[in-house]
Amino acid sequence: MNNRIIIALDVDDFQKARLLVDHLHDATLFKVGLQAFLKFGNELIGYLREKDKKVFLDLKFKDIPNTVYGAVKSSLKYSPHFLTIHLSGGADMIKKALEAASSEPGLTILGVTILTSLTNNDLIETGINLPTDIAVLQLCELGLKNGLNAFVCSPLEIEPIKDRFGKDIILVTPGIRPLWSARGDQKRVFTPQMAIEKGSDYLVIGRPITQNANPAEAFQKILKEIEN
Ligand code: C5P
Repeated sequence: MNNRIIIALDVDDFQKARLLVDHLHDATLFKVGLQAFLKFGNELIGYLREKDKKVFLDLKFKDIPNTVYGAVKSSLKYSPHFLTIHLSGGADMIKKALEAASSEPGLTILGVTILTSLTNNDLIETGINLPTDIAVLQLCELGLKNGLNAFVCSPLEIEPIKDRFGKDIILVTPGIRPLWSARGDQKRVFTPQMAIEKGSDYLVIGRPITQNANPAEAFQKILKEIEN
């Protein structure tokens, strides 16, 4: 189970990130997002690789196809295990991202569906007049048609996606909150056990672990809760 929990290293200082990696020695997958990447990405990814950890580079690319092609190519220097693109970037952008990654069999591109911080009303405000669950299915379909089979979605959408497109699809789910932790800005949340039960392949967990007074204890507590 420890290989299916991805720790989101959303911190503002390299030493904090390094301490988290050191404390969480049973965790194998770490997500480096915009906050950490822009400030100390090179150092952090270097450290993760030194410690034999897998890197999830979460920069959520969305731009014209040619630019995303170049961004994915440039990302290869970090040997990421996972890398994210927004599915809303469209078919050509998805194809170009995959083409850029085709030389790296160890890299999986994840298509981001709808951010777990967004509700139906938030979507309407951005001009998308579809409920989140329908928009997510539509975006997955677009990804699948263009060669992706791994997606980031809310745990609420695991069942609808797997029912519609099959169990082989890989689903990575943020928006995970153990009952004992604060929700923060995540609106569509599940407990770790529920997300695994529904069929999540990987859980992304940030603040419930990284902002806990004892991150290693929080990580172990989550593992135990899932296993029970
Ligand atoms: O701290 P928390 O557990 O909410 O962290 C969740 C992580 O997952 C954050 O790094 C966030 O950027 C990421 N994420 C998300 N929703 C998505 C895609 C990624 O929350 N749809």
